[in-house]
Amino acid sequence: MREESHVIVLPFPGQGHITPMSQFCKRLASKGLKVTLVLVSDKPSPPYKTEHDDSFTVFPISNGYQEGEDPLQDLDEYMERVETSIKTCLPKLIEDMKLSGHLPRALVYDSTMPWLLDVAHSYGLSGAVFFTQPWLVSAIYYHVFKGSFSVPSTKYGHSTLASFPSFPMLNANDLPSFLCESSSYPNILRIVIDQLSNIDRVDIVLCNTFDKLEEKLLKWVQSLWPVLNIGPTVPSMYLDKRLSEDNNYGFSLFNAKVAECIDWLNTKQASSVVYVSFGSLVILSEDQMIELAAGLKQTRCFFLWVVRETEKDKIPKNYVEEVGEKGLIVSWSPQLDVLAHKSIGCFLTHCGWNSMIEGLSLGVPMIGMPHWTDQPTNAKFMKDVWKVGVRAKADGDGFVRREEIVRCVGEVMEGEKGKYIRKNAEKWKLLAREAVSEGGSSDKSIDEFVSMFC
Ligand code: UDX
Repeated sequence: MREESHVIVLPFPGQGHITPMSQFCKRLASKGLKVTLVLVSDKPSPPYKTEHDDSFTVFPISNGYQEGEDPLQDLDEYMERVETSIKTCLPKLIEDMKLSGHLPRALVYDSTMPWLLDVAHSYGLSGAVFFTQPWLVSAIYYHVFKGSFSVPSTKYGHSTLASFPSFPMLNANDLPSFLCESSSYPNILRIVIDQLSNIDRVDIVLCNTFDKLEEKLLKWVQSLWPVLNIGPTVPSMYLDKRLSEDNNYGFSLFNAKVAECIDWLNTKQASSVVYVSFGSLVILSEDQMIELAAGLKQTRCFFLWVVRETEKDKIPKNYVEEVGEKGLIVSWSPQLDVLAHKSIGCFLTHCGWNSMIEGLSLGVPMIGMPHWTDQPTNAKFMKDVWKVGVRAKADGDGFVRREEIVRCVGEVMEGEKGKYIRKNAEKWKLLAREAVSEGGSSDKSIDEFVSMFC
């Protein structure tokens, strides 16, 4: 039997990780590399071929929890059970691949599971780490890991990272949140810093960013590691209407209300709607939800607001009836289709990296309302380096008032600053498209990756 080379891709089981890594799989498959996406899930099912093509198989495995158990109770235990499940299932998968003539050559693994490098090496596979966060964030974690960056002790304390020419002056509240709130989330802090713990031994380092976006950091990271920037992982059909490719709903943990959103947006004028989403994890306090609801109602714009099922009880009573046609609230949207819709004028976002790079790639001006993890740092760069939006000012405890929401929406949708932001957003949209087009920097990086294993 002829042996075909094959790579295994293993994201952390969260939407912000599954989305970019599954899109990366599609790109690899479209370039002729066989790929198996291992999806850790609470409802494992038999392996299946994707509609995309024969080169792309999905292999669901259990997260180690029985029905009725709550995986969200204890993060450490969750990570342990996922690790045990992967360490049980992966060897069998690798053996089966070898037997069927699909020689596994590399394991592309999520940076939040750095122990997978040794697993890859123990089976003779190359280890390729995939960062779903940008370099500007990983660089900070790396310096914290090395002990060469100390976090300012007060939120007014300024800090720079002297070795990074691209870094603006950062306040403590521009840094990834866990660095400053380490006492509240010690286990998450350990996970994010550990991402960089064995990077010096990794065979290939992949990142969902593109060279121009983090140009000044690129030289530095390339001097340390074998880096390939392969983003944005946004499907090319959204970047260039002439290209057709299947959309990304297949790997969503949530059910997108596609027709409801698009039919509603179709009734709205160009650039008249504010799209509001806080991604898959952020939990807002009830007071913040009430304030946001009031702010959106007071703006002069339409709004499409994603409120996940688990958050919906925080929407004020009778709110939906009160706002009427001015607003649509859904539990999950087809975000890329929404951002690409001509009626969208700006994106009020929590600044999760996928949302950031999607907004940026589709040329949508943004209002940053970061909540935790890498989001404050992404927001800082969005506003001050790429200049594609504004950041909502928060009170000392992180609370954003309704007046501030109204002010930000006005500034981006109607003000002079909005015009400047839109021009920059358009520039980044073109640069993102250029990176993934044939011969662009990310396209070449993907070719390089494929050529190593084909
Ligand atoms: C998490 C972290 O919060 C983020 O900071 C980190 O960079 C990645 O992991 P999440 O909070 O879910 O992710 O945000 P984000 O990174 O923006 O990812 C959300 C994904 O869900 C995006 O790809 C977005 O397009 C998609 N989405 C979101 C939908 O398809 N529909 C929705 O209604 C909302």
